[in-house]
Amino acid sequence: MNRIIAIANQKGGVGKTTTTISLGVGLAKSGKRVCLIDLDPQGNTTQGLGYDPDSIDVTITTIMDMIIHKDYKISKEYGVLHHKEGVDLVPANIELSEMEMRLVSIYIGREKILSKYLEMMRPLYDYILIDCKPSLDIITINALTAADSVLIPVQAQYYSARGLEQLLNTITWVVTDGPNPGLKVDGILFTLANDRTCNFKQVSQIIREAYGQSIHIYKSYIPRSVKAEEAPTAGISIYEYDSTGSVAEAYDRFTTEFLQEEKQYE
Ligand SMILES: Nc1ncnc2c1ncn2[C@@H]1O[C@H](COP(=O)(O)OP(=O)(O)OP(=O)(O)O)[C@@H](O)[C@H]1O
Ligand SMILES: [Mg+2]
Repeated sequence: MNRIIAIANQKGGVGKTTTTISLGVGLAKSGKRVCLIDLDPQGNTTQGLGYDPDSIDVTITTIMDMIIHKDYKISKEYGVLHHKEGVDLVPANIELSEMEMRLVSIYIGREKILSKYLEMMRPLYDYILIDCKPSLDIITINALTAADSVLIPVQAQYYSARGLEQLLNTITWVVTDGPNPGLKVDGILFTLANDRTCNFKQVSQIIREAYGQSIHIYKSYIPRSVKAEEAPTAGISIYEYDSTGSVAEAYDRFTTEFLQEEKQYE
């Protein structure tokens, strides 16, 4: 199976980028061919893997622009960076922020620009992971249209549940009236958890009660650690930065659980 997965939550700072990089590198360590798509003008996945977003010429924006202009002769290697930890990356930088306006002005097919590119890339990889930006705009809709499924990192906090409702409504629209009837939800991954506080236990319980019937909630969760906060500045994944720490271990466990769940698609 060659799978395309959007890592999405319009709430900012919930661990989308950290999960994209850590799951991506985790899957690569398990022998999977992985490509990460940075679909956020903040360029955090790009930065988190040690590249300077502002000095990169060819980004996801360049590629989406080519597709908008019906230039489909894109080489599969075009713009792809090969990271030493075994993942490929299509980078992003601030130029992606102008893409929203360009997409909105397209009358037909504006949701499908990314999909046209990723369908070309799909055969090259076992997993393409898309790191979404913290909003539900047309760029994120492009990710939800290109993806087979969505993985939702949720910070274990009281007000997380409300934002989740909005995301799930958007996903329901994409499936029922929108551009991707086949879109599935892989599940919710609790991140930035402080499992010593009863807050995490209570919040995960509330979300389990509200959504656990309809949405898979991964057993693994990602604890908070100072090392994980530092890793992006070093430009390497948590596996390299703090290989024996709690967050590397948690993402390792999560990768195993994720791969177990993937058997349903085989
Ligand atoms: N397990 C963790 N422990 C401590 N800090 C973390 C952890 N996971 C992520 N962080 C830090 O929290 C911040 C937000 O994480 P991240 O960038 O992954 O979230 P995001 O959802 O991608 O944010 P945005 O919405 O801005 O794209 C970052 O500074 C990151 O380094
Ligand atoms: Mg991010």
